[in-house]
Amino acid sequence: MQTDFLVIGSGIAGLTYALKTAKHFPDKKILVITKTQADETNTKYAQGGVAGVWDEAKDSFEKHIEDTLIAGDGLCNNQAVEIVVKEGPERIREIIGYGAEFDKNASGEYALGREGGHSEYRILHHKDVTGQEIERALLEEVSKTKNIEIVNHCFVIDIITQHHLGYLVTKSTQDITCYGVYVLNLNTNEIEKILSKITLLATGGCGQAYRTTTNPRIATGDGVAMVYRAKGRIENMEFIQFHPTALYEPGVSPSFLITEAVRGDGGILRNKYGEAFMEKYDERKDLAPRDIVARAIDSEMKRTGTEHVYLDCRHMSKEAFINHFPNIYEKCLSIGIDVTQNMIPVAPAAHYSCGGIKTDEWGRTSIKHLYACGECASTGLHGANRLASNSLLEGMVYGHRCYLDSVRIVGTIDIENNIPDWNALGTSDPKEMILITQSLKELQLIMSDYVGIVRTDVRLRRAMKRLDLLFEETEELYRSTRVSPQLCELRNLITVGYLIVKGAEFRKESRGLHYNTDHLEKNPLLQNIIL
Ligand code: FAD
Ligand code: SIN
Repeated sequence: MQTDFLVIGSGIAGLTYALKTAKHFPDKKILVITKTQADETNTKYAQGGVAGVWDEAKDSFEKHIEDTLIAGDGLCNNQAVEIVVKEGPERIREIIGYGAEFDKNASGEYALGREGGHSEYRILHHKDVTGQEIERALLEEVSKTKNIEIVNHCFVIDIITQHHLGYLVTKSTQDITCYGVYVLNLNTNEIEKILSKITLLATGGCGQAYRTTTNPRIATGDGVAMVYRAKGRIENMEFIQFHPTALYEPGVSPSFLITEAVRGDGGILRNKYGEAFMEKYDERKDLAPRDIVARAIDSEMKRTGTEHVYLDCRHMSKEAFINHFPNIYEKCLSIGIDVTQNMIPVAPAAHYSCGGIKTDEWGRTSIKHLYACGECASTGLHGANRLASNSLLEGMVYGHRCYLDSVRIVGTIDIENNIPDWNALGTSDPKEMILITQSLKELQLIMSDYVGIVRTDVRLRRAMKRLDLLFEETEELYRSTRVSPQLCELRNLITVGYLIVKGAEFRKESRGLHYNTDHLEKNPLLQNIIL
């Protein structure tokens, strides 16, 4: 298969790009591939909303920029922050144009929400299912756009570079170039190659590296792992954001999120003694940035010997709660928690990857003709900690920027026709899937126990040793077994785990989401860690 534009991922980032490129070139086909169903994305599960300067009487670009920089704890790229904040509102208007609906107040103006780290009300939302509404609107627009083809159940294994033409490619090779991808097409069960002039990675996050996560099963860091294997640049993977308030439901995965907007509307965190503890940790209390709230919860859980704290909404108006958070209200009720009578048990869960594939201001990666945007990319917006609801915004803004740059250069690129077919010689069907499922569990335990909210040098060393063993075993399996999505995802998650630990080992300081009790001070000499 050959195409000018190949998009991997059907979340907000990939679909924004696909729609714009398709409208720009109505005669060219845009191919979007996705590993399960088109709407099964992190995007679909977004709750709180999209941040953007909307009420210009009270809010301003300067304030949104400042909030983002404060959350990022000294590591944001100022240019990226300015780009996203200033271009964001126009991108939001475009998805409204595609039909996405955001809640309005009685006077017909957008009802703006507030979340941790935001100094103003600036979050557009659709009840507590904003992502579902955005994904719906984008997919509907795609269905009206004749020259976009979505292929579901098509798993990308690796990106194709000079390495597949037989050349030695190392980190110092100049002009590593992407010619397309190898995919396991689950519709035919064949490994196929898709050759493309431009390839966009919009493969989302990697929360599945941890035992407890808000991310759906698809979030296995495939894009990051593929680029690392292809010798591209990855940065700041140590900054994994833990959402402070996932519903505590032992044995249920992924964890159901209790959006930060609940605290924005007045929800209060309490420990097992009923004490509102956030005032001990930060003057912004329950609306401090996420790294601070998650660490405070972790510390209260350890101090009181519990596996969760509580989110108290009993004082909030029942009608207002149900109106803003109908999904959360129903979910809690389904497990016997009436939020108007009972406090909600919550605990932190891995939620977002702030680092990723290093890109420039046009979404270009270090590999030629390969772009990345959305959660898999590291644009510099988030620095050491992402400000709530900045992620959907970033996906749209950089989806647009990748489009602008790639349509500019596509005419100068030829398809590389000498790419060999996938070589599956010497592999056979897996005999024991348990080898894969058990290794995945081990990986998630290692990451949660040793590379979580609070880290130490010893824990990181231990994690690396354990990962080494898992890596060896999995590579052996990969060489001898016919590839399956499960095996590829395990392999990718081990790579992502390695990158997180490696970044954390290099970062001998505590900053933003990376907190190491052996290095509590900030080190002004340490900037982005690029692997
Ligand atoms: P995704 O939406 O995750 O899409 C990834 C796509 O890549 C999927 O289509 C997948 O199939 C495809 N893919 C991945 N690997 C492969 C492969 N190997 N082969 C083929 N296809 C592949 N952010 C906010 O700004 N506001 C919020 O309110 C908010 N709430 C959130 C709530 C939850 C529960 C979660 C989990 C996240 C939330 N976030 C929020 C974060 C935000 O939703 C994500 O960062 C964002 O949606 C990521 O979009 P994306 O387009 O980069 O990737
Ligand atoms: C939430 O709704 O709390 C999640 C928002 C985000 O991750 O940006």
